[in-house]
Amino acid sequence: MKSKVTVVGAGNVGATCAHILATKGYADVVLVDIIEGMPQGKALDMSQSTPIVGSDAKIIGTNGYEETANSDIVIITSGVPRKPGMSRDDLLLTNMKIIQEVTAQVAKQSPKCFLIMVANPLDAMAQLAMHVSKFPRERVMGMAGVLDTARFRTFLAQELNASVEDVQAYVLGGHGDTMVPLVASTTVGGIPISQLLPKERIDAIVKRTAGGGGEIVSLLKTGSAFYAPATAAVEMAESILLDKKRILPCAVCLQGEYGIKGLFVGVPVKLGAKGVEQIIEFKLTAEEDAALKKSAASVQELIDVMKI
Ligand code: NAI
Ligand code: 2OP
Repeated sequence: MKSKVTVVGAGNVGATCAHILATKGYADVVLVDIIEGMPQGKALDMSQSTPIVGSDAKIIGTNGYEETANSDIVIITSGVPRKPGMSRDDLLLTNMKIIQEVTAQVAKQSPKCFLIMVANPLDAMAQLAMHVSKFPRERVMGMAGVLDTARFRTFLAQELNASVEDVQAYVLGGHGDTMVPLVASTTVGGIPISQLLPKERIDAIVKRTAGGGGEIVSLLKTGSAFYAPATAAVEMAESILLDKKRILPCAVCLQGEYGIKGLFVGVPVKLGAKGVEQIIEFKLTAEEDAALKKSAASVQELIDVMKI
């Protein structure tokens, strides 16, 4: 039997996730949105792409939750994206209401599913989803690190005229200005980046990575990035559905790992059939450790506002 993935929010990120999944073919997809006709229309359009790519995935669009019942994975993208000049944190109160309502519906219909959160501010919304669903931490995770790391890898590959496949890196921490690209452990073809680029170029790339979402918002003017975010969310879903046990940077609820307790922060985790199967701890430099704690403190500020 094929797996079932629900994507809530059929806007830019959600519809792109659904389309990538429909193309891959290993899961049926249910696309949910509050706008009447929109998820149905997009699902119909995607269905008609499946014969072309040779996928037998079934794609359903709906404004309700009954069709989502017993999903294996639910990707939650419903929420407002930012406009130029806004930070992700400015979305907190609006998206909090949406995520509360959506998570309650999802948890009722699919009590055993894995939740992959995408809506911003990411770490706070993931924490809220765990609070509302009461799911164990193994089944709730946020997508941010895969995206931020992909941006870092892209910029480094462009700078060195190298293949993105040879750039190994991690961006940890919260999905905001305080994110933490781990320069000391970044390698290209196994060679430390510090031996390949001068410090000022590395610093410039780190800065561009941290502002990577904002750079796209200011170009698009109406909305935020969605191709890379959707690809990143599907990579996480795939590792669970296919039990690939990929080690990916994801926002998870830390319980003492990295000296952080009871808070969603991006760290490397192993994703497999049981969800978050392992939180990978490794030694950070003192500077990186301090930056991670600072990033966690900025997530905590949002949690305090939400009073959860
Ligand atoms: P979008 O505006 O294109 O789509 C959002 C969709 O959610 C809309 O179609 C809207 O009708 C729907 N929606 C709103 N309330 C809903 C509800 N109660 N139930 C079901 N659907 C509802 O926005 P986009 O670009 O898809 O971004 C979605 C969210 O993801 C934003 O909060 C954005 O900031 C965030 N995001 C996070 C990323 C990350 O790295 N974690 C990356 C990219 C976006
Ligand atoms: C991004 O980083 C909007 O959070 C989203 O592109």
